[in-house]
Amino acid sequence: MTSNKQFYVTTPIYYVNDRPHIGHVYTTTIADVLARYHRLLGHDVFFLTGTDEHATKVVDAAAEQGVSPQEWADTCAGAFEDTFSRLNMTNDDFIRTSQDRHKTKTTQYVKALLASGDVYLGDYEGWYDAGQEEYITEGKAEEYDFKSPFNGKPLVRKTERNYFFKLSAYRQQLLDFYNQCDADGNPFVQPQARKKEILNRIAEAQDVPISRTGMGDWGIKIPGDDEHTIYVWIDALFNYLSTVDTDDRRGYWQSGAIHLIAKDILWFHAAIWPAVLTAIQKCEGYGWVNLPAGVYSHSFWISEGRKMSKSLGNFIDLEKIDYYVETFSLDALRYFLATRGPMGTTDSDFAESKFAEVYNSDLANTFGNSCSRVTNMIGKYFDGQLPASQDEGLPVQEAVQAALACMERLDISGYAEAALGLVRQVDSYIENTAPFRLAKDPKKLPEVGTILYNSAETLRIVSVLLWPLIPDACEKVWERMGLDYKAQMDANTGQGQLEAWVAWGLLKANTAIEKGDPLFPRYQVKK
Ligand code: MSP
Repeated sequence: MTSNKQFYVTTPIYYVNDRPHIGHVYTTTIADVLARYHRLLGHDVFFLTGTDEHATKVVDAAAEQGVSPQEWADTCAGAFEDTFSRLNMTNDDFIRTSQDRHKTKTTQYVKALLASGDVYLGDYEGWYDAGQEEYITEGKAEEYDFKSPFNGKPLVRKTERNYFFKLSAYRQQLLDFYNQCDADGNPFVQPQARKKEILNRIAEAQDVPISRTGMGDWGIKIPGDDEHTIYVWIDALFNYLSTVDTDDRRGYWQSGAIHLIAKDILWFHAAIWPAVLTAIQKCEGYGWVNLPAGVYSHSFWISEGRKMSKSLGNFIDLEKIDYYVETFSLDALRYFLATRGPMGTTDSDFAESKFAEVYNSDLANTFGNSCSRVTNMIGKYFDGQLPASQDEGLPVQEAVQAALACMERLDISGYAEAALGLVRQVDSYIENTAPFRLAKDPKKLPEVGTILYNSAETLRIVSVLLWPLIPDACEKVWERMGLDYKAQMDANTGQGQLEAWVAWGLLKANTAIEKGDPLFPRYQVKK
């Protein structure tokens, strides 16, 4: 056990009826950036992703393939696991809802809720969106003209004998909870623009069905009733708790989970989940269960200006993802997703021309170029030995602090922008002081040395800041500067010392600085 601050970040668990695509890779990349950032800060991080396997569409897909749901789920979950590991995601676990560890805990949670009366048996009639596996309120159904807002298919009128969760009993507690979070300065839902809609819906929330029949053996049974299976959404939400509901992991839960999701599944995370947790908390043995620290609900990637769709041929699937990694590097993909992604309330366009432009401008022409320029001059004028600085260095701390403040509010683009601002500061410093000109006069070499030391030191600090986004390139910079940050992190369960490492003056004069190949070779846009 460590006494370091704990940090728990999750992604949605993905349905196994589909192959991984850019949307899944996006949320997982954002979570990975955050996880790496917090480890770099020295925090004890738990980063969770996984797959959601008990949906009816999994049963249908398996039947179509002529295999059992478990076989189908194994194949698809494997594809997600492989993809995330190939993309160097640093998740600490991968939960599959068909695993016993999840099923056992989930059964216990529902049992406790049955005992407390928060889950009860009743009848339900309503409009059902089969694609989303979700009931829609009368008002919403009307608003959508009785068609699914997601796939346009007609909503189905459905009556079911069901187990219900008493959501209506938690309206006030949820609203109070939202107010308390706001008062504490930690709004529960981000971006804030999405909050109002949720609050309106909470104010009218009815009890929600949490079971279904006809699933056969697939899914988790309602304890004591073999006819009913726990509704896939309730089953899925519990993954966040079940995975860390062990003696050595409960601290992560209690540190306040950060759930990263997209806008499509905000209701479940922003209303049902905290209500279920509030109910669980009162049950015997669950007094330790607190509410998550926050839900960040981003928007969607569209592609080449249009909604991604297989028929339009603009779907960013695994093959496309591999193409970007091979053509530009994994760092480049991470950087583009993390800095140009739909973290706010508008969708982002994944277009190759934009990708290439961002790659060239931020990575090749800014960070990469500045590193080459400085190390080249150290090679040329000082034989690859880092000269000493004769002054106090560059004022970088303000930008460093601005970057850290951005990441605290999950503003990853702002964070990257602050770091790149430092690189631009190095570029204009070099332009203004012109060491390449000064170097012609041997008497001015100490001055040249100062400029190059200050530049290299700033780039070192930038490489620490950018590591969560572009780890491969930053680790190369560290190697070339003779820094053992990676080894220190590896030796210390992945934890770094961000705050110590961004202090000025850590590079030692006379260190050998290796030039190396360009970190990000410029990309020639095809005509
Ligand atoms: N299984 C549920 C989630 C249960 S969480 C307790 C589910 N799965 S999903 O496979 O459909 O994944 C939805 C998530 O994938 C979104 O919330 C988002 O994180 C990601 N994305 C899917 N398509 C996306 C885009 N086009 N753009 C960005 N992210 C998207 O819902």
